[in-house]
Amino acid sequence: MTRTLALITGASSGIGAAYARLLAEDHDLVLVARRADRLSGLAEELGSRGAAVEVLPADLGTRDGIAAVTGRLAAGGVGMLISNAGAGGYSPLVDVDPDDIEPLLTLNAVAPVQLVRAALPAMLAAGEGTIITVASLLAFSAGSMDPRAPRRTLYVAAKAATLGFTRTLAGELADTPVRVQVVCPGVVATDWNSGAGHSIPWAMSPEGVASASLAGLSLGETVCAPGLEDQDAALDALLAAEAALVTGGNRPTLAARYTGPRA
Ligand SMILES: NC(=O)c1ccc[n+]([C@@H]2O[C@H](COP(=O)([O-])OP(=O)(O)OC[C@H]3O[C@@H](n4cnc5c(N)ncnc54)[C@H](OP(=O)(O)O)[C@@H]3O)[C@@H](O)[C@H]2O)c1
Repeated sequence: MTRTLALITGASSGIGAAYARLLAEDHDLVLVARRADRLSGLAEELGSRGAAVEVLPADLGTRDGIAAVTGRLAAGGVGMLISNAGAGGYSPLVDVDPDDIEPLLTLNAVAPVQLVRAALPAMLAAGEGTIITVASLLAFSAGSMDPRAPRRTLYVAAKAATLGFTRTLAGELADTPVRVQVVCPGVVATDWNSGAGHSIPWAMSPEGVASASLAGLSLGETVCAPGLEDQDAALDALLAAEAALVTGGNRPTLAARYTGPRA
């Protein structure tokens, strides 16, 4: 049986490592993250199960790090891209160090686009390919005033961009053999956010997220929210709201509330 080569970013822990362990049965792997020691340890574990594993240490918050990974993707042979690396940077915007904004948005939003752009030509030429991008349920949370949610302007900016990018890309690639999925987990019990998820009773396991995503591929899901029971109804409602905004607002005349007398 031919083994597909999967490149996974953020493979040194959490959800990325869970994808790697699930896929190692019938995939070879390229593992990407900054902590080379963690990647090497996982490569050794998965190599002993029969997978050929490359380790590619890279900081995806930098142009050089992105270039190292896009170079590997452009070299071809990668049939599955899982763009999972991310960081929260949870903080009120006014407390964010301005120098941290670009690396955070680069890691969470720019890198996934660059990686897909690099992977696509070879996938289209090969006549097959799978692209998974890990976003978050928080991508849908811009309007939420729930006080339990973290301060998250930069994170939402990036993950909403990733969500919109991947959903739009799915439409663009609908007539091709390349499958696209964006994964939107809720709280997951990983090292994320200083391991906060480990003490939250409703946190999902990283293995649960990765296995839902892979099962969702078989179901043809473009959006995978691993804990959401009635996903079709929620996405239909979202599509209807989006259509109402885009179609309803795209007119030459001002809405009536802007033309009446001012209070
Ligand atoms: N945990 C949650 O509650 C939750 C919920 C929704 C969505 N997510 C998403 O799930 C994805 C994985 O997170 P996780 O929960 O598995 O957390 P995690 O265990 O902290 O894993 C994050 C991964 O991203 C890598 N990473 C971080 N900064 C990087 C950088 N600058 N360059 C390259 N790699 C970098 C880390 O590796 P190195 O430190 O070795 O670089 C690590 O492998 C993230 O995109 C996150 O937004 C998580």
